[in-house]
Amino acid sequence: MGELVGYRCSTCNRDYAPDEATYTCPADGGNLDVVLDWTAIGRQTRPADIARSTEDSVWRYLPLLPVADPGHFGTPLRAAGWTPLYAPERLCRAAGLRNLWLKDDGRNPTGSFKDRASAIVVARAQQVGVETVVTASTGNAGAALAGMAAAAGLPAVILAPNTAPPAKVAQLLMFGARVFLVEGTYDQAFDLTLEAAQAFGWYCRNTGHNPFTAEGKKTAAFEICEQFTAAVGGDPAGGGKWSAPDAVFVSVGDGNIISGLDIGFENLRQLGWIDHVPRLFGVQSEKSAAIYNAFVAGAQKIVPVRATTLADSISVDLPRDGLRALRAVRRSGGACLAVADEDILAAMRVLAREAAVFAEPAGAAAYAGLGPAVERGLVSAQDRVVVLNTGSGLKDVKSAMQAAGAAKVIEPSLAALRHALD
Ligand SMILES: Cc1ncc(COP(=O)(O)O)c(C=O)c1O
Ligand SMILES: [Zn+2]
Repeated sequence: MGELVGYRCSTCNRDYAPDEATYTCPADGGNLDVVLDWTAIGRQTRPADIARSTEDSVWRYLPLLPVADPGHFGTPLRAAGWTPLYAPERLCRAAGLRNLWLKDDGRNPTGSFKDRASAIVVARAQQVGVETVVTASTGNAGAALAGMAAAAGLPAVILAPNTAPPAKVAQLLMFGARVFLVEGTYDQAFDLTLEAAQAFGWYCRNTGHNPFTAEGKKTAAFEICEQFTAAVGGDPAGGGKWSAPDAVFVSVGDGNIISGLDIGFENLRQLGWIDHVPRLFGVQSEKSAAIYNAFVAGAQKIVPVRATTLADSISVDLPRDGLRALRAVRRSGGACLAVADEDILAAMRVLAREAAVFAEPAGAAAYAGLGPAVERGLVSAQDRVVVLNTGSGLKDVKSAMQAAGAAKVIEPSLAALRHALD
């Protein structure tokens, strides 16, 4: 593991020793960046050491992470991350680009990107010796925490909105978490979880609120660079460097995934393992666009919205990591985009048909933002672009059916099939 030096507030820049903070900045509630000793890490670890690792998961990056090895070999806790980076030719042509890759985080053990954060939070929970972990979730973070906690034998409590898709609720229950469906929004579940964690002494994983979630999510940036290096003909175990793409597209709810990616790319740049940070493009639904609104207004403050998008995983009134998401987009030279829900459904169809990747609406939103970005000249045909799918389509079958339409029902005869084919 990397040595945890402490935390730095992303809002007021105050530094805290490891025992002076647990969640957000005690002074102003800002999201805390984890501070590691990068000089020591750079001395002890080279890119080739990682590229030669036999660990096909987030744990190959242990020297760059602020947690100790959690053990639990042979369980899904060891299987989070190291998802495939596809080079889908037809999708690339459909997008009007020369170089497009699709990283499929729907392939994680519980079917979403959130396994990365939950694996690292469970490792941290073990390290600090907590008895119960809790999180608010639109569904995926909860399923991920419930799954990773089940792998580690740690009790978990999950609070999700009553409107969460049934497949996600089924996952929570199957993993044996104590599940409470809150009659209200994700935001209300979030606030209730903070109160409950304090009242009952539970360790809170809430997205963005817990500084270790972004530390888990940054592993996707590490993987993108390591896999991209190989994809463009380099040898990640060869020289002292990896390559980075020009642009990365990701969907945004609370803003913690994009913040984590930004932190991961910045870590590699600080180590001198990559020369530049990709431009980060954060895609929201027009019906849940608080961070996008702040971006276009050039504001430093996020004004909450009333989110109503069908992409439930990114349906957030007040993003809990919004300022760091803005930081990610602004300092990388990227942009925020907002897309219509119909375009998200269309993106689900295109991803499935042109790249054979079945994404949930929030996962497909990232691709839905690519077309408008190309049209507006934010991305050029030559740019080397990575689009991240953050969740499996099996998570939300109702939306998938909405995107795919209904199948024809026929009599069991060749004549009926022939007629239907016509
Ligand atoms: C599938 C999927 N995509 C995107 C997001 C957005 O991540 P964040 O809330 O960190 O912006 C989530 C969050 O739950 C998710 O589950
Ligand atoms: Zn602060």
